[in-house]
Amino acid sequence: HLSNLRGLKSGTLRLASATTAKYFIPHLLGPFCERYPGIDIQFTVANRQQVIERLEQGLDDFYVFSHLPEGLDLDVIEFMSNDLVAIAEANHPLTKKTKVSLEEFCREDFLIREVGSGTRFSIESFFNNQQCKPNIKMTIASNEAIIHSVLSRLGVSILSAHTLAFGEIYGVQKINVASLPIQSKWSFSWTRSQHLSPVAKVFLNYVETEGREIVKKAARL
Ligand code: PGA
Repeated sequence: HLSNLRGLKSGTLRLASATTAKYFIPHLLGPFCERYPGIDIQFTVANRQQVIERLEQGLDDFYVFSHLPEGLDLDVIEFMSNDLVAIAEANHPLTKKTKVSLEEFCREDFLIREVGSGTRFSIESFFNNQQCKPNIKMTIASNEAIIHSVLSRLGVSILSAHTLAFGEIYGVQKINVASLPIQSKWSFSWTRSQHLSPVAKVFLNYVETEGREIVKKAARL
């Protein structure tokens, strides 16, 4: 145990996460770094496809996704839910309705993340099983840029509810669309054959035993 702690003084923890997880991971890192101030953290934020590529190259200790890639031999812990919600600018007519049908929502101009995004993947999988399809107006490779485009009334969108922590302040509102939210879950994963460093093991234990509570409190999720 003591030698573990000594090792932790100078270890490095490498995390790669898809962009929707960047809203909660910092809240995990705060208390962790306070406890282990000597640990160097390398935190990479990219879209799902880019995180998969990092995983295939073995660049990080942990990879955080809401849709795990298939065909890779991974160890996984499910962390918490990630609901994808419909959003519009606060004065948009659909925000005034208590219930919006999917058909009605599909008639609006729709803003969607880029190919390679897990958010886009979830939206496409969801609409594969629906009669109507979103009316795609623009592809935008950033959650924040989508929020600002919604604010500028370029269209509506579907994003992880956690991206709204800031957007709501400025006047983006959830719309209550039938069959939504799209439900997914964030998972921490790592290659099964990969040897976890002492730092990675301590972090994994922290995530599993305390992480959910810490994030819930800190990020008010
Ligand atoms: P992404 O987010 O849209 O940035 O890829 C993540 C995911 O849901 O895996």
